[in-house]
Amino acid sequence: MKLPKQVKIVEVGPRDGLQNEKNIVPTAIKVELIDRLAEAGLRAIEATAFVSPKWVPQMADNAEVMAQIKRKPNVAYPVLVPNMKGFEAAVAAGAEEVAVFGAASEAFSQKNINCSIEESIARFQPVIAAAQAAKMRVRGYISCVLGCPYQGEVAPDVVAQVAVRLHEMGCYEISLGDTIGVGTAGKTQAMLEAVAKRVPIDRLAGHYHDTYGQALTNIYASLEMGVAVFDSSVAGLGGCPYAKGATGNVATDDVVYLLHGLGIETGIDLNRLIEAGEFICAALGRATNSKVARALMAKRAPSHATSCA
Ligand code: HMG
Ligand code: MG
Repeated sequence: MKLPKQVKIVEVGPRDGLQNEKNIVPTAIKVELIDRLAEAGLRAIEATAFVSPKWVPQMADNAEVMAQIKRKPNVAYPVLVPNMKGFEAAVAAGAEEVAVFGAASEAFSQKNINCSIEESIARFQPVIAAAQAAKMRVRGYISCVLGCPYQGEVAPDVVAQVAVRLHEMGCYEISLGDTIGVGTAGKTQAMLEAVAKRVPIDRLAGHYHDTYGQALTNIYASLEMGVAVFDSSVAGLGGCPYAKGATGNVATDDVVYLLHGLGIETGIDLNRLIEAGEFICAALGRATNSKVARALMAKRAPSHATSCA
């Protein structure tokens, strides 16, 4: 079994991580988080979402975030767009890469973007065409690839069908979302097998929420299948507003530790990443969800702070 030599991590903390926060996070905090993540070596940072502010108020400052980040030339700052309105706003804000997001579950599609899977594909068509005309890259997401909070089981074939459509429409990468983190290693591999029969494996990314604590295992199972792109969220922040009970993405800190331990290059400085996580956790008044960050922070803390009470 040969694992990839390099893995690209798409940091989704500033978007997926923060979108579910009830209290509005100040724009300056979001901007500093993004800049710190870029300094830590992340090369793809999903910065915000151009969605309806009535649906996701936390992302209402999308244009301000895009205007204030210090863009580094070798870093991509993709943004979510559900429709042409979002796309046009993203372009006006200077976005250079966008991501459309669909689902493999009808019920979730309705709850998340208020339309059927078929209608969502029809909405993506002009977005992808306009992005291509503007020489912008488009990423495609599929939610609920390993289960849906409303409908339960999701068949791997349905995931494959949606993935084919997004790929044929021009998405350079299809991110497969275990939105509610229910997948296990065997299910993950079965789903990937079905998708990889129809879309090249090097076009696929794993986007695993860690609700059931399976995300790292599912990443390893995906590495075994040849997947070399993973989405994750610093400090394991996050959840989806339209998937009740869904907790954060797998923590980037934990993924980097796993990958470096396997001798796989990421280009990420783990210590600086953990500092970015400490920054956002302090701003949110919350402890990190990353076990690796917790362990490494305890090691550098004075001994009295680490002893058990
Ligand atoms: P709708 O209500 O059906 O849309 O929402 P509409 O076209 O009828 O428009 C209704 C209102 O929204 C109008 O304003 C539009 O102008 C406005 P009004 O006339 O009432 O004042 N509007 C917009 N405003 C700003 N930006 C836009 C936009 N579009 C319409 N782009 C819509 C449809 C898709 C807009 C809505 O359902 C929506 O914004 N949903 C976003 C849901 C979301 O962001 N979910 C979280 C991200 S997905 C996720 O987390 C999963 C992922 O991480 C992968 C995984 O884990 O599975 C990616
Ligand atoms: Mg997600």
